[in-house]
Amino acid sequence: MCDGIGRQAPGRMATLAVRKFPAPVTSREVFMGNDALSILDKRTQATYEVPIEDGTIRAMDLRKIKTGPDDFGLMTYDPAFMNTGSCRSAITFIDGDKGILRYRGYPIEQLAEKCTFLEIAYLLLSGELPTETQLKEWRKQIIHHTMLHETSKKFLEGFRYDAHPMGMFISTVAALSTVYPDARNVHDPASRNLQICRLIGKVPTIAAYTYRHSLGFPYVYPDNDLGYAENFMNMLWRMMEPKYTANPILARALDILFILHADHEQNCSTNVMRSVGSSQADPFVSTAAAAAALSGPLHGGANEEVLKMLDQIGSKDKVPAYIAEIKAGRGKLMGFGHRVYKNYDPRARIIKWAADSVFEITGKNPKLEIALELERIALEDEYFVKRKLYPNVDFYSGIIYQAMGFKPEMFTVLFAIPRTVGWLAQWQELVQDPEQKIARPRQIYTGYEARDVVELEKRALATAPVTAQP
Ligand code: CMC
Repeated sequence: MCDGIGRQAPGRMATLAVRKFPAPVTSREVFMGNDALSILDKRTQATYEVPIEDGTIRAMDLRKIKTGPDDFGLMTYDPAFMNTGSCRSAITFIDGDKGILRYRGYPIEQLAEKCTFLEIAYLLLSGELPTETQLKEWRKQIIHHTMLHETSKKFLEGFRYDAHPMGMFISTVAALSTVYPDARNVHDPASRNLQICRLIGKVPTIAAYTYRHSLGFPYVYPDNDLGYAENFMNMLWRMMEPKYTANPILARALDILFILHADHEQNCSTNVMRSVGSSQADPFVSTAAAAAALSGPLHGGANEEVLKMLDQIGSKDKVPAYIAEIKAGRGKLMGFGHRVYKNYDPRARIIKWAADSVFEITGKNPKLEIALELERIALEDEYFVKRKLYPNVDFYSGIIYQAMGFKPEMFTVLFAIPRTVGWLAQWQELVQDPEQKIARPRQIYTGYEARDVVELEKRALATAPVTAQP
């Protein structure tokens, strides 16, 4: 793709264009207008022009900036990807400064108000909202796959009674890779579609079984007459009744929570999905890897941590003392802050709104009072204001989940169910993107230069012993 024009003699202009640009380059205006970056390498006095496209420069263009033929070329160093775009994506748009979130161009507020989760799944995966006929067909495809193979149920039986549901969820999703070896055909669109339907159909079943397992209750088979959220509730909570009837307000609230969690562009777990998927691993193991990333307390695991934090605070009057601890650097306010949002997370706003209808049915969660006080104080406090720390999606979701009857260990699993759709939409985009290759970052090596191995008996202790002792 690149035109191969490398470093020029000092003082001359070199073009690092991805597209073919005519050479020799004498004036950047002639070839690039103003959509270029001029770089003077002070080590060599060479000047380079790098095209700017969509507000970015290509990191590979910098490789041609060299001090000599043996020089590897310039790299960017960006731990934690603070300023690196890794893909082109048409799925989700976030404006973190303005607090905007859109799926395929539609504002999240409208989607949460007017659509069901299965419509959103269709939208994220296909690019458009379904018509009534398309939705009917799509629903049929998903419910066809809600059952787990009986042997897959046995994977779950092997876990200890107190195993964390997220660990069970991750492992069982990964194990499905052995049940569906055809999933390795990642370049076959029909096979991809089948695995996508299998995963979307089965993740609520796996999630519900992890819950029943921890209680020692028998598993409940899916009921395909029910909607996506209702069926999940059926598999969680049905006891002896012949047919489970979900409370429609709670089922709708759960469906809205699923919509809000469905995708969030290149977050930590989605980056894992793409990274693992880039090796052409099958979507079951890729999804399991993404779910593992989600489980961390800085990502989807934060919702569980919020509840622990609220328990630890105990009552509203203890909030100022807790905030003082955070400001003194002792811990983080869980459910606050975001890499991208430097404004109120729009999902948190919708969750707060949905909470009212849930509490009308379940009664108010007493922790809400503590959470509201935390938010009130934090939003006025200079420490949080200066750092633009606002409540994120995890701040209020746990309070609703708990009011609905979920225990905190289940919260991240509840996040993983809908996010599976986002991971799969991003994976599908990755697989079809001709620009993508196996993900493989570079490093800045900070270790020893080459050195010779000394025979065991002649080795002296060079420095303090390393910590990892056998
Ligand atoms: N409480 C107190 N201080 C915080 C918090 C917090 N929750 N989050 C960030 N800060 C401070 C941080 O200490 C740093 O201060 P300083 O400039 O003095 O060093 C500053 O704010 C910038 O923080 P950062 O760590 O550089 O920000 P980041 O973009 O690397 O981290 C984050 C983003 C979400 C990991 C972080 O805000 C955090 O740990 N929040 C708590 C965990 C949480 O709620 N995670 C869920 C995220 S939303 C759901 C999802 O997508 O997973």
